Amino acid sequence: MTHSSLIVEPSKGLRGRIRMPGDKSISHRALLFNAMACGTASLEGVLDSLDVKATLRCIQRMGVDASMSGVVGCSGVFVAPNAALDCGNSGTTARLLLGILAGQDFSSRIIGDASLSTRPMRRVTMPLARMGAQFSESGDGLPLDVQGGPLTAVEHSLSVASAQVKTALLLAGLQAKGTTVVREPAVSRDHTERMFAAMGVEVQREQHADGGHVLSMSGGQALRPFSGRVPGDISSAAFFMVAATVVPNSDLVVEGVGLNETRSGVLDVLSRMGADIRTEDRWMEGGEPVGTLRIRHSALNATSINGAEIPRLIDELPIIGVAAAFADGVTVVSDAEELRVKESDRCASTVRLCRSMGANAAERHDGFSIEGRKGQHANGFVFKSALDHRMAMAGVIAGLHAERSCTVVGTESISSSFPTFHALLEDAHG
Ligand code: S3P
Repeated sequence: MTHSSLIVEPSKGLRGRIRMPGDKSISHRALLFNAMACGTASLEGVLDSLDVKATLRCIQRMGVDASMSGVVGCSGVFVAPNAALDCGNSGTTARLLLGILAGQDFSSRIIGDASLSTRPMRRVTMPLARMGAQFSESGDGLPLDVQGGPLTAVEHSLSVASAQVKTALLLAGLQAKGTTVVREPAVSRDHTERMFAAMGVEVQREQHADGGHVLSMSGGQALRPFSGRVPGDISSAAFFMVAATVVPNSDLVVEGVGLNETRSGVLDVLSRMGADIRTEDRWMEGGEPVGTLRIRHSALNATSINGAEIPRLIDELPIIGVAAAFADGVTVVSDAEELRVKESDRCASTVRLCRSMGANAAERHDGFSIEGRKGQHANGFVFKSALDHRMAMAGVIAGLHAERSCTVVGTESISSSFPTFHALLEDAHG
């Protein structure tokens, strides 16, 4: 298989105003939850990326009349799909769909691409099996055959904070008899809880002093349709925040960025490192806080990232790694073993990228450490992104502040989450 490559030229500064496309996590939820709801929803700003298209195709295959701009809900009763449900590269599609399929009175098969097929699914299927669903699997991944049916609510204690697992269990819990309880060791992104609230579903939340988080929800509650605009994706904005921070002469405004506290760890970390990022405006959209960010070039210092901060920036760690490679001092990321089971092993791939930039970097069992080069240009490099969209974009941003042109291989994966990445990068270069 031949992969597309991108040659990145050093940048003279990112300037102007750009607007982020819709948030990926919220887009998946808007389609899936509305598919289960009773009534018709109209949506704006749903992210038109390969991952979200996989979700759309799956619900259409289960008899739902849906597009990127609207969904006619099936009131919780889907049609048995006449072929396998292909989740492509999207872990969110696979895991959330499992929560829905667990309660449906038919059997179905979930498949995915080579990367998704190796990602852990037992973290979802084991608790769903305790509720009454049946699965046949050849290992801890895909393909998976699901036999859904009547479910009984159960109490679950998650060993890692995971919004995908939490959401799958709540989607099954909606279809179960009794009260489903989900305990998380730390708070993961809460888009599901916010959207459920907007759709009339009551979920009780308790926050414990040790950082733990407990949700309880009674089954049988109906979802009302959710209409509205999906806020821009902070995980996509993070690439532009780092680019405008590390490239001298930058002054960039990024509009419409989701600023949900459970996702905004990247803002805290970059600010702590010395980045000049100001929130110019703040408003609410569909139950989520949104804002406009202005980012100016600034020198960076190293930092430590661990504990409850990790779930708040889990997808941003590769691009934070790039920022660390330009910073002064040694940045240490720990408590992030989850990085090893993302679209690639992101402990290994982030270290590989930072080394190719010329920084000293080492893997830790639960993260990585990176000794930055104090704002110096990166070496010229060729980086193979292992078909991981966030690694490919991190590689492109690293190349914007390199001593000569760089090559990133495998950039086709970027359309999983951010199809307009190249166009917006061009806009920011006038
Ligand atoms: C997501 C949750 C996170 C994140 C993923 C999207 C979601 O995964 O990494 O990109 O939409 O719920 P985990 O729940 O596995 O941490």
